[in-house]
Amino acid sequence: MSAERTLLIIKPDAVAKNAIGAILSRLEAEGFVIRELRKLQLSQDQARQFYAVHKERPFYGELVAFMTSGPAVPTVLERDNAVAHLRQFIGATDSTKAAPGTIRAEFGTDVQCNAVHASDSPENAVGEIRFFFG
Ligand code: RTP
Ligand code: MG
Repeated sequence: MSAERTLLIIKPDAVAKNAIGAILSRLEAEGFVIRELRKLQLSQDQARQFYAVHKERPFYGELVAFMTSGPAVPTVLERDNAVAHLRQFIGATDSTKAAPGTIRAEFGTDVQCNAVHASDSPENAVGEIRFFFG
């Protein structure tokens, strides 16, 4: 199977929990190779742009506030079927409903503070990787 790349972001809640290493370790054990990694503080404009697809949603303002509440860690991950595999591996958006053993079940708190972002399609992965890594 050919390798594919996807974008993961370790969100500010998981960074604040000191869980960067634990999450990356889980991903490496799952066969993902870390191709790019950066720790940064998202600006309001960057967070608004990154989640622009949600701009009409009632939680958009809170989402932007959350994503700018502290440093985040965007990461490019590679493995076969990376986009779909990572979405499965992180679990459902709402951490309280995420399947046992998933990243969000283990490291997330609720529907907003859910530890990580992952690209939801190969097309969006290309755009999101470019957003952070050029
Ligand atoms: P992500 O884009 O971060 O990987 O998450 P996702 O695809 O699983 O979920 P999505 O619908 O794209 O939502 C993006 C992020 O917005 C926050 N959210 N808050 N308060 C709410 O009802 C609510 N719903 C979503 C979460 O941080 C979610 O990951
Ligand atoms: Mg999404």
